[in-house]
Amino acid sequence: MKTAGGSDAAKRAAGERAAEAVEDGFVVGLGTGSTTAYAIEALGRAVADGLEIRGIPTSFQSRRLALEVGIELTTLDAVETVDLAIDGADQVVDAPDADGHGALIKGGGAAHAREKLVDTAADRFVVVADPSKLAPTLERSVPVEVLPDAHTVIADRVRDLGSEPTLRAAEGKDGPVVTDNGNLVLDCAFGSIEDPDTLATHLSRLPGVVEHGLFVGLADATYVGTADGVDVRE
Ligand code: 5RP
Repeated sequence: MKTAGGSDAAKRAAGERAAEAVEDGFVVGLGTGSTTAYAIEALGRAVADGLEIRGIPTSFQSRRLALEVGIELTTLDAVETVDLAIDGADQVVDAPDADGHGALIKGGGAAHAREKLVDTAADRFVVVADPSKLAPTLERSVPVEVLPDAHTVIADRVRDLGSEPTLRAAEGKDGPVVTDNGNLVLDCAFGSIEDPDTLATHLSRLPGVVEHGLFVGLADATYVGTADGVDVRE
């Protein structure tokens, strides 16, 4: 499995602990990325031992893995409730006394549009991460999924907001990354993001933006895998 940096042991610890929160009969949102993959694999083992769940994948990658490990799949429009969503993050604000505590940047795998849809539909949204993801403020580039025709116009608009956008290029290929929804991704460097909520509002307002990777006030808990176990931060 491809890993996007950070310690595999810590990712595994976080993913497997989150999978333990899944109960019989649950509908589970299945996030994307190398940390969530450990949760999906653990759920597959639990299913083989008799746990009955249905999963809602957030990407082609998580759909394929869930099928491989034997998780029955469903869709948002076929269920009344999503009990729990488990998903990774590229950066997590770890500042318990600050307003932005728990805010996230997601979209390293270009799956943030479906991730936000499924994660926000869930009764409980748990983030799984290794310590390299924690930061006092968000400062990584914010992925913004855009309609293909809109990418130059939106690049100009996000420059007006103080960012330097880069069209995400496909690794090893000539051309841009195309999302599962057929769109493009602008990675927008804003430097240190002091007010992620306001920036999220500005980005959401731009016509042609499908979804951005700022997840503010959405996560219920972060499970941080460490060398000694898992820190659960509410
Ligand atoms: C995909 C995501 C991932 O959850 C995020 O990139 C974290 O991935 P990983 O667990 O591999 O570090 O947002 O769009």
